[in-house]
Amino acid sequence: MTEWQEFRGGVNVVRRHGNVVHRPASPATPAIHRLLQHLHDQGFHGAPEPRGFDPDGNEVLTFLDGEVHNALTSELRTPELLASAATLLRRFHDATVTFRPHPDDLWLFPVRQPTEVMCHGDAAQYNCVVKDGAAVGFIDFDTAHPGPRVWDIAYAVYRFAPLQGPDNPESFGTPQEQGRRVAAFCRAYGPGVGAEVVDAVPDRLQALVDFMRDQAAQGNEAFRQHISEGHTDLYEADIRHVRAHRDTLRAAFEL
Ligand SMILES: Nc1ncnc2c1ncn2[C@@H]1O[C@H](COP(=O)(O)OP(=O)(O)O)[C@@H](O)[C@H]1O
Ligand SMILES: [Mg+2]
Repeated sequence: MTEWQEFRGGVNVVRRHGNVVHRPASPATPAIHRLLQHLHDQGFHGAPEPRGFDPDGNEVLTFLDGEVHNALTSELRTPELLASAATLLRRFHDATVTFRPHPDDLWLFPVRQPTEVMCHGDAAQYNCVVKDGAAVGFIDFDTAHPGPRVWDIAYAVYRFAPLQGPDNPESFGTPQEQGRRVAAFCRAYGPGVGAEVVDAVPDRLQALVDFMRDQAAQGNEAFRQHISEGHTDLYEADIRHVRAHRDTLRAAFEL
């Protein structure tokens, strides 16, 4: 009999049993499972495969082999990890172009125009499986929603460059270095994204802050807790950081 192994993410307790994980489902789960199945049908395997529900109503997904790191520790601050995360996001987006959401699908995050692709919605190291120093998969599609590529890339560069101010304990690098890492991420992502992503970051973070406050006001416990732990204050400080260094960050795209 295989043992159960427990993982704690930012919101959920996830239990692994052999080759699958069980995680709490949400109203969006049926649509997310269609999306995950579509990815695999398209030949994209950097995401869990849906395996239905257990008797308690939890979703069941395949386990992706590798490590998930909550923070970008110094050994993860490599050009290889940055570029592999970008190409993984590119391949994920490209595989979703042929996905057809249903009008009555319930996505946690609002649909954002133009709906070019499915956004992961939380493409960050803490939702990224790493193997031999390279990003090989994304997990936790709870925040997936239709939207523009740049909207998803904006959050990914915020986390992977990262684009945080010096008061954020996860921040590293000067604004020049952060700009070079944003530009490297976008080059690896490939055609279709440039320096305009720098201006999308504050909008993307502000939308997240507004969404978190709105959900907390409606009684969402996880967002209430994140707000009381200071997450929205950090996002707001980082918005100011990106705005203050906009020209330096954008200049890295000219190098
Ligand atoms: N399909 C999966 N394959 C491998 N590990 C997973 C998978 N799903 C979850 N995990 C593990 O569980 C942890 C929390 O998962 P996650 O789904 O991101 O939770 P949360 O919704 O709380 O953010 C991850 O950091 C990872 O270690
Ligand atoms: Mg997660």
